[in-house]
Amino acid sequence: MTGHFPPRGKFITFEGIDGAGKSTHIRYCADLVAARGIELVSSREPGGTPLGEKLRELVLHEPMHLETEALLVFASRREHIAQVIEPALARGAWVLSDRFTDASFAYQGGGRGMDLVKIETLANWVHPELWPDLTILFDVPLEVARARLDATRTLDKFEQEKADFFLAARNEYLRRAAQYPERFRVIDSTQTIEAIRVQLAAIVAELR
Ligand code: TYD
Repeated sequence: MTGHFPPRGKFITFEGIDGAGKSTHIRYCADLVAARGIELVSSREPGGTPLGEKLRELVLHEPMHLETEALLVFASRREHIAQVIEPALARGAWVLSDRFTDASFAYQGGGRGMDLVKIETLANWVHPELWPDLTILFDVPLEVARARLDATRTLDKFEQEKADFFLAARNEYLRRAAQYPERFRVIDSTQTIEAIRVQLAAIVAELR
């Protein structure tokens, strides 16, 4: 069988409730991948494209029906896949995305209580073939996440949600991690940054 050349890149996503510490660790993972001489694309959702960033503004700050919110994050995702993710993977680059569809399950599904079957339908419609090769879930208890959210900056619509919302979002993330153990790696994000880095280095080194 003839393989593709260049070999398809890897798609890695980072998830966790707000305050789990994901942003710090994405930068470290990007350095690990770059150190291997691999072309790297770092991106985020909602966002990742000019249109996606406009949708992000609406999703993060505008009150709306929960299904409108889900449709907008998937609209942003559709654009992100077409403009950024697929072209990068096709040319052999690795894509690191700060959130992807698991966040829709956790936030719109778990947090807001939207029917998970509808989210599954949107996922199957928008990316029937594409799932991350690896999803790193930064898991922390609510109190820890809350304490980490910088009290001095203005909180967006999601960050202002109550404990119940994040409890449900965290539970949905953990449920998905248990459902797809091959794809997920769950990191106990109450550990020190150094301890987490050791784990991340091992996880990234495994990827070929
Ligand atoms: P986040 O990734 O936490 O970025 P920042 O570090 O700048 O706050 O913010 C994105 C927010 O969007 C987050 O609160 C979760 C939310 N979100 C959804 O509700 N559904 C989705 O599908 C995605 C991708 C994000």
